[in-house]
Amino acid sequence: MPEEASLSPVLNENISFKPPGDFSKNAHASDDAIYHLAQTDRLAFWESQAEQLHWFKKWDRVLEWEEPYARWFVGGKINIAYNCLDRHLSSWRRNKAAIIWEGEKGEQRVLTYFDLHREVCKFANVLEQKFGVQEGDRVTIYMPMIPELAIAMLACVRIGAAHSIIFGGFSAESISDRVADCQSSLLITADGGYRAGKVIALKNIVDKALAVDGSPVKDVIVVAHIGAEAGVQHNTGRDHYYHELMADSPARHEARPLDSEALAFLLYTSGTTGKPKGIMHSTGGYLTGVTYTAKYVFDLKEDDVYWCTADIGWITGHSYIVYGPLSNGATTLMYEGAPGYPGKDRFWSIVAKYGVTLLYTAPTAIRTFMSWGDDYPAKHDLTSLRLLGTVGEPINPKAWLWYHEKIGGGNCPIVDTWWQTETGNIMISPLPGVTPTKPGSATHALPGIEAEVVDDQGQPVARGQAGLLIIKSPWPAMLRGIYGDPDRYKQTYWSRFPGVYFTGDGAQLDSEGYIWLLGRVDDVINVSGHRLGTMEVESACVDHAFVSEAAAIGVAHEIKGQTIVVFVSLTAEHTGEASASEEIRQHVAAKIGAFARPEKVIITQELPKTRSGKIMRRLLRDIADGKVIGDTTTLADSSIIGSLKEKYEKLEA
Ligand code: WT7
Repeated sequence: MPEEASLSPVLNENISFKPPGDFSKNAHASDDAIYHLAQTDRLAFWESQAEQLHWFKKWDRVLEWEEPYARWFVGGKINIAYNCLDRHLSSWRRNKAAIIWEGEKGEQRVLTYFDLHREVCKFANVLEQKFGVQEGDRVTIYMPMIPELAIAMLACVRIGAAHSIIFGGFSAESISDRVADCQSSLLITADGGYRAGKVIALKNIVDKALAVDGSPVKDVIVVAHIGAEAGVQHNTGRDHYYHELMADSPARHEARPLDSEALAFLLYTSGTTGKPKGIMHSTGGYLTGVTYTAKYVFDLKEDDVYWCTADIGWITGHSYIVYGPLSNGATTLMYEGAPGYPGKDRFWSIVAKYGVTLLYTAPTAIRTFMSWGDDYPAKHDLTSLRLLGTVGEPINPKAWLWYHEKIGGGNCPIVDTWWQTETGNIMISPLPGVTPTKPGSATHALPGIEAEVVDDQGQPVARGQAGLLIIKSPWPAMLRGIYGDPDRYKQTYWSRFPGVYFTGDGAQLDSEGYIWLLGRVDDVINVSGHRLGTMEVESACVDHAFVSEAAAIGVAHEIKGQTIVVFVSLTAEHTGEASASEEIRQHVAAKIGAFARPEKVIITQELPKTRSGKIMRRLLRDIADGKVIGDTTTLADSSIIGSLKEKYEKLEA
């Protein structure tokens, strides 16, 4: 089988795995009753999920829907941190491990619910009393994967300040753009973090980000994680050490009863323009969605050790390292570092060391492990595992089967979970005790979620057909808007088809109605599960002095799913093609973040354009995919294609 064929998702719809009998028997959902319940009365179903939470005041109305704005559990008063912490303190969970943390160097910290509650209360007092943070303020967080990150988030939502977490791989410029967009006056960071044995000096990046004119940030709180090696410059008056602030902060703090619709957090994500959008999430609806999905999709039980390997800087970490698991009173494991450090078996040694029972990771990681070989997992006892999950991109059946066999020992259900930053919670996924799975398919929408695959006219496609994935009705954890840009919110999600949410993904139904995700249909690429806009990469390129024009495309990649290839034309004064390519790659990494560094930069005299001057990306994709070049009749100058193809192939060789 050629490699390309194994990347195609719809490989074999006839291979299927039934949930193991004893798994089903003990699962939160053992049969399809929960689907019927949700179908019979969707709103009553969501109310029954919301009732699992502690409300200071119950809602008056379950949903107010004024397209495209939803308000859920209207009139209700609730607090996310109270639900994740305080309510567990009156039960035996008081002394249960809430967070098990492992540092990259092998250090270990365990915070019980009691410990975590105390730290969150102290930090909430720091925010309120020492910085005057109030309900409705925005607080930016730029941190490595350490417990203080979870403490900071929980303290924000406890007082009703919205956090805006920026993944630690983003550049200084990405930070300045985001703090400016949401006008955040407080930033929480650490001196640095460890990644594959190297120190990432986060605080120095923050300093650079704040050195721009008119930065709204007045105060920076710094967690001393690395120490002297991080080489931190202390900016007196602006910078404050976390441990000094915490030393005398009181441990009692009342969680504030917040409106169900209060803004809980912003999370910036890439779209089809150069500017990332601040996705807004609510309080009551969001927490209802993540609590419900964490419980049923991962079949979370009291004695589970649950490990989601994402970074908290992405939505996966928000919903399924912190809020979903803690709201359920579960034990969530947090690992600071890289999967291959110091050895390629680090993940498996962690699974064995802590007896991890539920593992949630990304297809790109699974493909990397596959390429490293079977010996690494084989060295460790992985028999504690009882369920596996994947997220972030379509998983190719070959990787699915490897995961099932080599990690799951052939008897763990796999939940392939489809969702987005915007959806807040998992939308399409098997229920592990109920749904027979097919490698490469995310199977069906969860109870309460109404997903459909439609054609260009918005009509549902027949089984066997492909189309666009939409969500037909509002759900509690859905985004509430794009911060400061209501027009873009309407335009992006609600204009393609009237009254329904457009996901931007293509999907296909198989002969049994299973959903197979086919990837983005817009100008968004997915590199190792990280979302990037082609326009964002292009603007970073043309920002370089040598570059006059750029066209970025996503190209299939065996490990990363997709990588970025950019075609650029240069201005007259440049230093030669080879060095220019490398310089542009570095420039993009510096502008956006290292994960956005293009795999290849192809320098060309000219880009293929229509007579009206539009760049024909379709032809560039054909070149990169090694396909027969499509219709070129609309090209202004068709000779360009031949020379570009030659150049690309030379680079491949
Ligand atoms: C895009 C959302 C949701 C957390 C991680 C990414 C793709 C996500 C799957 C999956 C196929 C998937 C989609 C989606 N995606 N999960 N299981 N199968 N594709 O969040 O950065 O908001 O990206 O990731 O294309 O639209 P994100």
